[in-house]
Amino acid sequence: MEPQSHDSKTRTGRRDFIKSAGAAAAGMYLTAQPFVATQAAQPASNKETLALNGGPKAVTVPMGDATRWPIYNGNEAKEVAALLRSPGYGPIAEFEKAWAEFHQVKYCKAHCNGTSALTSMLFALDLPPGSEVLVPDFSTFFPVVPMRLFDLVPVFVDINPKTVNMDVEDCKRRLTKNTRAIMPVHWYGLPCDMDDLCDFAKEHGLAVVEDASHAHGASLKGKLMGTWGRMAGFSLQSSKPVPAIEGGMGMYQNRLDYERAVTYGNYDLPITFPADSPYRKYQGTALGGKLRIHPIAAILARNQLKNLRPRNAMIGGQLQRLNDRLSQLPGLASQRLRPDCVRAHYGANIVLFDAAKAGMSRQSCMKALRAEGVSVSASFGDAGIPWVLLHTYPMFREQQWWRHMPVLPDQVPGCDEANRSIMYLPLFTKEVPELVEQYVKAFEKVWAHRQELG
Ligand SMILES: Cc1ncc(COP(=O)(O)O)c(C=O)c1O
Repeated sequence: MEPQSHDSKTRTGRRDFIKSAGAAAAGMYLTAQPFVATQAAQPASNKETLALNGGPKAVTVPMGDATRWPIYNGNEAKEVAALLRSPGYGPIAEFEKAWAEFHQVKYCKAHCNGTSALTSMLFALDLPPGSEVLVPDFSTFFPVVPMRLFDLVPVFVDINPKTVNMDVEDCKRRLTKNTRAIMPVHWYGLPCDMDDLCDFAKEHGLAVVEDASHAHGASLKGKLMGTWGRMAGFSLQSSKPVPAIEGGMGMYQNRLDYERAVTYGNYDLPITFPADSPYRKYQGTALGGKLRIHPIAAILARNQLKNLRPRNAMIGGQLQRLNDRLSQLPGLASQRLRPDCVRAHYGANIVLFDAAKAGMSRQSCMKALRAEGVSVSASFGDAGIPWVLLHTYPMFREQQWWRHMPVLPDQVPGCDEANRSIMYLPLFTKEVPELVEQYVKAFEKVWAHRQELG
């Protein structure tokens, strides 16, 4: 694991951590049930000696491939072999068709990664220079850095530390006469309050571009993530719920958004638009880069999409069984889940720690848990450096990269609280009931000693 810093918190660093923490996995809750405790809190009655103090470890089952991700099966291999025998781009259209059917949308375009999908959308927005776009500060830089290419202005918004998602109230505070769009991110698969966000956006005439890169198959009020906004981008990178190793998908409600976005990164597709399309004439050159998905990635993603629902049900169900029990311990909680949400998971199992309620510091708690054999970290990094808030990155603070400077917040108390409270646990991607049980026991054991740890 490498420490997270401005220099080292690259995608590779983050993903290295995921692997090493045993959390290189993604999945989703498919339960729409509100939190229901499955088992009452069971503080370890015998108060066994902590492993930290020489006692036996609570977790003895080896992690093995419990967090393996992505998981491909024979189908992908067969189809890739067939493509190699007869190379072509056919798998791209097949994948897009399957995706459109799954989401019940008319317009979608596969890309070489999520960043290129979201960049094409920023172009499709076609906003005047200096237009402000509300983005969560506790997020990834991938879709925010390209805003500079279109003279858009990121405005960093605080999050709700209980959900780790964009705070609608803070969006209201950061609204100006220049605000034109909002880009919510469903952090680690937990749907944002899209009903409230969309009401807010409608009231102020803002375009909603969802970054659904962690939330494949998640929904709110029965409506899939990615179908709430005017446009939505998904990453299909290795660690995501639909992994293509590298890939992305863009989804559009409107024909013109679709055509403009597609024309940004596809020189060969404008000819496929209807005769009255203003973008047909750009056949042959496109208007930006070349952002086509690799057909092998399209094969992987289409096969993974087929399994999305059952996999999510398995991974999310098991995670909820674990977290329901952990949440019985004072000072531990999951990201808050609305009863009308079907959430997703990606990369890790986030739990929120409240030191005051737990009666011990997060650091001493994690030290004791690690000694018990629990894989736990406060960050994507060994050194426990918290998530780097977007507004602190040099590239958002230096005039040379922006015609209109990003709007930096003075304070983001929600982000700070999230950074004080988040603990990353592994995301188990196969049924491992024994390991889950031992994780619960390890937490209960540590909690039984929380006074002395405090
Ligand atoms: C929230 C979010 N948005 C966008 C991206 C960019 O996707 P990609 O890595 O496929 O370009 C990522 C990647 O991790 C992400 O986590």
